[in-house]
Amino acid sequence: MLTAYDYPSATLVDQCGIDMILVGDSLGMVMLGRDDTISVTMDEMVHHCRAVTRGTKRALVIADMPFMSYEPGVETALTNAARLFQQGGVRAVKLEGGREILPQVQALVQAGIPVVGHIGLTPQRVAALGGFKVQGKTAEAARRLMDEAKALEDAGAFCIVLEAIPAPIASRITAAVGVPTIGIGAGSDCDGQVLVFHDLLGLFDRFVPKFVKQYANLRDIAAQAISEYRQDVENGDFPGTEHSFRMPEEENAKLDN
Ligand code: KIV
Ligand code: NA
Repeated sequence: MLTAYDYPSATLVDQCGIDMILVGDSLGMVMLGRDDTISVTMDEMVHHCRAVTRGTKRALVIADMPFMSYEPGVETALTNAARLFQQGGVRAVKLEGGREILPQVQALVQAGIPVVGHIGLTPQRVAALGGFKVQGKTAEAARRLMDEAKALEDAGAFCIVLEAIPAPIASRITAAVGVPTIGIGAGSDCDGQVLVFHDLLGLFDRFVPKFVKQYANLRDIAAQAISEYRQDVENGDFPGTEHSFRMPEEENAKLDN
């Protein structure tokens, strides 16, 4: 699984054979430059989902349900998930949380909306968690995570994202639940992995989380290209004749008379 947020990123991810594309609410940070994901709205999610689904032929597209689009209750969750389906064109949604959102997960699944769970470091709760921190480091916290994963599976989630938890705990959860686990900062024993598009490609300028492997530095490559363009224009080297349109010489000459 990899995130994508617009048409070009979706076409790339899809064409590379990634199975699932997540329109993550991380778009608030990597696309919109905000400090966290809390302020992402349903309208913003729908806008980005539309672009991603237009660029996707093969992968399953999953939309994050933004902060407070599902917590208030089952009705709210159904209404908002329906928008992501009908207007955004996605075919699954992801919700952060454990026991407290089981009624919403059940109702969505019953309505025919596949649900992805997300436990561990849940960025929408960053205020309550006291920062972007690794979760489940004590035996008690780890037990709670295992319990949440099982409860999400029982409620009908078809896979569960495990974010920023110790590898041995992710391994235990993966062994304990029947549905696939998708890890991010959760070690190699998960059934699948997920990364943020901008992190993988080196397109985010602020920080690189410990769990990210940067496979390329596209910012450097892009900066090089943009600087060359600027220099070419300043030196008169761009555009060249090959980029310019001609007209019949006699027509041009008429303008001198
Ligand atoms: O918003 C997001 O990109 C996510 C993934 C990091 C799992 O939730
Ligand atoms: Na998210």
